Parts: sequence; C-alpha cells; structure tokens
Amino acid sequence: MNEKLVYCLITYGCQMNESDSEYVAGELAARGWQRVEREDQADAILINTCVVRRSAERRAIGRLWQLAPLKRRRPDLLIGILGCLAQQDGRSLLEQLPHVDLVVGPRDLPKIGRLLDEVRHSRERVVCIDDIDRPTLFAAEPMRQNRLKAWVTIMHGCNNDCSYCVVPRTRGREWSRRAEDILTEVGRLAQGGWREVTLLGQNVNSYRNGGQDFADLLGLVAEIEGIERIRYVTSHPKDLSDRLIETVATTPKICENFHLPAQAGSDRVLARMNRGYGRDDYLRLVERIRRAIPQAAITTDLMVGFPGESDEDFADTLDLVRSIRWDSAFTFMYSTREGTPAAKWPDDVPLAIKKERLQRLIELQESISTEINEALVGSRQEVLVEGPSRRSDQMLMGRTRGDKVVIFAGPNDSIGRTIKLTITRASAHTLFGERAEENE
Ligand code: SAH
Ligand code: SF4
Ligand code: F3S
Repeated sequence: MNEKLVYCLITYGCQMNESDSEYVAGELAARGWQRVEREDQADAILINTCVVRRSAERRAIGRLWQLAPLKRRRPDLLIGILGCLAQQDGRSLLEQLPHVDLVVGPRDLPKIGRLLDEVRHSRERVVCIDDIDRPTLFAAEPMRQNRLKAWVTIMHGCNNDCSYCVVPRTRGREWSRRAEDILTEVGRLAQGGWREVTLLGQNVNSYRNGGQDFADLLGLVAEIEGIERIRYVTSHPKDLSDRLIETVATTPKICENFHLPAQAGSDRVLARMNRGYGRDDYLRLVERIRRAIPQAAITTDLMVGFPGESDEDFADTLDLVRSIRWDSAFTFMYSTREGTPAAKWPDDVPLAIKKERLQRLIELQESISTEINEALVGSRQEVLVEGPSRRSDQMLMGRTRGDKVVIFAGPNDSIGRTIKLTITRASAHTLFGERAEENE
C-alpha cells in the first residue's frame, strides 16, 4: 500500500447506486486509493452502472467503449464495471468488452478493494457476482459527496417482482440492515455536521429488524440529536402502513414528503405489472395521507406504453393524474428488460405512440405542478439552505420540507442552516422566495 494509486469512479442510475458509490469510495480511501476526476490520470476507472431501461444500459456500455482507446494507450490501466449491468451480464461482459478487467455486482462491492488488488497483481480478469442474495457489508465509512445531506442504505434488494422490473434480478432478495448499525451510522453523521438523512431501500416499507418495522426505525432515527430532517425512498403503495403515516404526522423531523410510485392508472395494467394494488387502493391511500397530513407533498413514478396499454388504459393514467394531483412525477416509457416476466409479452405499443403519450402525460403533470406550486406563493416555508444556486452564484438554493427547490438571495452564512422563506414566485419545478421577517 506504499505506492499511491488513483482511481476514477463514474456513477449512473438511482440513489442506491449513488449511495453504493459513496461506500465504494470509502472502502478504497481506507485502502490508500485516491480519487481523481480525470480519467487520463487514473490507475483504475470504475463505472457503476444501471440497466433499469434500455437507454440506461446503452449509456453505460457506450461510456465503457469510450475507454477502449485509453486502455490501448495504457495497457496497465484497470477498467471495472460495477453495479447492475455487472450483475445482469456477468462473465459475458468480458467477451463483449475486451478492455474490461473487472466485473463486480452490487452485493459484492464491499470486496472491491481486495478485487482490485487481485487484478493488479495477477493481471487476470476477475468477475465477482456471487453474493446476489447475501450482501457482504462495507467495513469502512462511506465518503459522502454532500456535506449536509446523506444517503443511508437501510436495506438491499427487492422481493416485489413487478413484471417489468430488472431490479430483483440485479440486486437480489430483500435484506434489511440491522437497526443498531443504521443508528450508529446516522449518529456519526450527526456528529460530523450532517443535517439531513435519506433512508434508502427499494421498498422501505418492508424494512424489518426482529420485531421492529420501518415506522419503528424512523422513530429511532428521529431521536438522534443533530439530524434535523429525515427522508426516505422508496415507498411501495401496497405496503405503506397507517402506523407510518401516523409516525410521519407526529414526528416533526420526518419530512411530510411521500414518494409513492403509482406506475399506471388502469387496473388492468396494474394487475399485469403485478403491483399488488388497484387504482382505488391508491386513491384511498392518498386520501388517508392527506387526511392525516394535509400539507403532505406526494410524488410518483409513472410509465407509459406497457405491453397491451390501450388508449383507454392510458386515459385512466391521465385521469389518475387529475384525481391525485401529485406535486411532481418521474415519467418513463416502458422498456423491455430481458428475463423479466413482462418480456414474454410483445412490446406492442409503437414508439411513436409511447412518445406521444409521454408528452401528453408530462404536459398535464407540469400544468398541475405549476398550479400546486403557484398556490404556495405567499406561504412561509422552512428551507434547509444547501448552497449557491446552479444558475447564479449571486443566489442561494435550498429545499422545503416537501423537497421543492427554492431560489433566493443570500446571505451566504445561511448555508447549512434551516431558515424561513416567504414564497414570491413559482414554476413547475422551482419556487422563488425571500427571507421572512422572523429570521433575525
Ligand atoms: N423500487 C422503486 C424504484 C424502481 S426503479 C419502486 O418500486 O418504485 C424506478 C422507476 O423506474 C420505477 O418506479 C418505474 O417507474 C421505472 N421502471 C422500472 N422498470 C422499468 C422498465 N422496464 N421500463 C420503464 N421504466 C421502468
Ligand atoms: Fe422494481 Fe417493483 Fe421492486 Fe420497485 S418494487 S424495485 S419497481 S420490482
Ligand atoms: Fe438502475 Fe440498478 Fe438502480 S438497475 S435503477 S441502478 S437498482
């Protein structure tokens, strides 16, 4: 470990991958590796990949191909594929991409340091995708990207088997981390000055630790002094309990922000997606949340063009958008994933129709998001100030409890603090505010 080794780590995909990359960076730092941004300076380039849609998979493979000339110039450079593509395609990636040295699935990432050493010394190519259902744990503290907000993985994998989804195949069966370990990690974050934690899992509502469930875990995290805000993603609508709603309603630190992927508005499509709830169940769930927490921000994921989706089915999705009035939605075109149950049905919605449906869905949702945000003009919001805004360093950016971005004018010493802002203007994705008088 006396030579100085440098590496570059590029991350695609969901928050879980972002979080995994932070744990990988921690593990490598503990072994003396130094992280750099420039690929041409690195001894190893690692790409943490996503395959949730074909576009994500193509992006990752395209990026890997871009590294081929670099490898030709510097044959001792190590190139590693991490994450979901690694798990999905395993050894066949070595044939497909002859310049790749290392393939490591999401559950094997804690071994990354040892595996890199192995490849460096043996110069043999290594594939490690063994622990799909038994996660090994990271020994080192993660190296976090953000100094204010932190991801904390509370569970791995997913047991839900939604018919379109590759995640159970890339991340394995569901497995909850021990509550003590999670609380220790959050405690260290609080001591290190972090203000917000987001608890991560594919379906946090099925978290279990002995007799404790997710609502219990949230309650325990909320007792940790120094942490001001707690968020969590993702909640599966079929598993969101009344106890959880109650816990969010009665625990001030837990942000009243529910990300509840609905996917579609038609019962026929939801059943074929194997989501485990129908349209009415979803409507009733949102009603229960809003009765308990009227100001709750509720967001979703929606998909268009699932196999067999008719005009009528799509109209049901639009209708659900109008009925629920989500604060915002991530919208996707269905993409067939090999090996998933839905792949046995023809991908029969033509691309042009998928695009048109997506466009109509986005337009409707944007108009609703704008209306909801405009209704906040004049209100006072509690905002955790994150730093300079992306567009102008004259302005600051923070987020409301509902996770909406607010842009406002300084002063810089409010960065890292929670302040009150009055909302003055709004668009579909952004609020604008000014400091409320009560901040001295
Ligand atoms: N566990 C989370 C997130 C899963 S992936 C959940 O249950 O919501 C994030 C989103 O990607 C999903 O909510 C879904 O809307 C979308 N997605 C998943 N598989 C897809 C596919 N094959 N084609 C298009 N979108 C997909
Ligand atoms: Fe995929 Fe469904 Fe699991 Fe989410 S709940 S990760 S969509 S299988
Ligand atoms: Fe992608 Fe894997 Fe996340 S497929 S969405 S990186 S779990």
